[in-house]
Amino acid sequence: MILQAGPADSPLRGELIPPGDKSISHRAVILGCLASGQSRIEGLLESEDVRATISACRQLGMQIHEDGEALLLDGVGAGGLAAPSCPLDMGNSGTAMRLLTGVLAAQPFNSQLIGDASLSRRPMRRIVQPLSLMGARIQTSDSGTPPLIITGNPHLEGIDYASPVASAQVKSCVLLAGLYARGETRVSEPEKSRDHTEKMLPSFGVPVGEGCAVSGGSHLTAAHIRVPGDLSSAAFFMVAAAMLPGSSLTLKNVGLNETRDGIIRVLEAMGVDLRVFNRRQYGQEAVGDIEIRHKGQLQGIDLPVQWIPSLIDELPAIMALAAVAGGVTRIRGAGELRVKESDRIAVMARGLESLGVRLKEYADGIDIEGGKIQGGKVDGAGDHRCAMSFCIIAQRAESWVEVNGCGNIDTSYPGFVGDLNAAGGLIAARDGDQKE
Ligand code: S3P
Repeated sequence: MILQAGPADSPLRGELIPPGDKSISHRAVILGCLASGQSRIEGLLESEDVRATISACRQLGMQIHEDGEALLLDGVGAGGLAAPSCPLDMGNSGTAMRLLTGVLAAQPFNSQLIGDASLSRRPMRRIVQPLSLMGARIQTSDSGTPPLIITGNPHLEGIDYASPVASAQVKSCVLLAGLYARGETRVSEPEKSRDHTEKMLPSFGVPVGEGCAVSGGSHLTAAHIRVPGDLSSAAFFMVAAAMLPGSSLTLKNVGLNETRDGIIRVLEAMGVDLRVFNRRQYGQEAVGDIEIRHKGQLQGIDLPVQWIPSLIDELPAIMALAAVAGGVTRIRGAGELRVKESDRIAVMARGLESLGVRLKEYADGIDIEGGKIQGGKVDGAGDHRCAMSFCIIAQRAESWVEVNGCGNIDTSYPGFVGDLNAAGGLIAARDGDQKE
């Protein structure tokens, strides 16, 4: 799909409730499936990625019903999963594939996981390696990518795993397998990645011990989960309001989990006028409202490397903001961006360059010099976050920008185009374009 975006002819104003958090939504569905009894989920993100997880869980026996705004999940109990009759299609979702592999590796049946072209290029050895140490049998392609062919083994052994990469998907995958393994399973990582799994497991009756540990044979019981709005989706609007003169925008019900809130620190460091208020809790997850006001010229910064895990998904949006800030913004320690839904460093670099931005690409990051943004054509490369970042930078361009490869915006933010127009931005699908 091709979108035509910007330049905005008005500031961004008003209030917006971003869609439900994608990471938390996947986990709510998976744990709801493994629990005995009926779980109630409010605010679940209804996007293609989460639909992939729902559809896989249905094939494993979970039932799902609507109850007004909420979803009711009839779980099968940790030991009650049914063998799927065909390969489970995870679409574009790395989270769905990596988390469900942890569960499926421990079952008394075999299964296969497949994905779209992007997911089929993503590295899976990072989960196959620890799961193999537990006794799992998983086959990948020669290059360690999907499809995953899993020979189920209900006799996994718990491990103490020091992950070489700060990855919530790896950590969650191992913990989920650990629910079925003998003894205790513990995961440590070089920096703390998002901790939604650890925060949600106790709601389903599973304690998480010191140092991120679970005990095998744990029994999950149904829970009531309220999903906060996704800070990663809100980030596009925070950046847009920060760069458009006269803007004043409030984002409501936004998740503020401290392992995810690096974007707030970066915007403050760049000089954005930002206020977080109405702080509250949805279970273990922090939530609040965020007000952003445009405040003139922003300053480029050197992003502290230790902040990277807490803003990894927001880096494309931060790159867009850097392109209009004064001076140079330096991002390093972000090599993981090269193995996301696309090589996000390369895709953002090519796109920003074609809008006239001066930059230098590094193996693990990028230097971006702020300046004027020309109109032109860019390619979101089928990566939802790159595509949305280009649509945002287009709002500050001198003339309109044609953004190709936007079809996957629906994987995380189905209402993005409507929300951007409603807030005062300018964006439309090019006539006659269908989702690719
Ligand atoms: C996610 C973890 C992150 C993030 C991804 C969602 C999750 O990846 O980039 O979009 O829901 O667990 P890592 O596994 O690299 O932390």
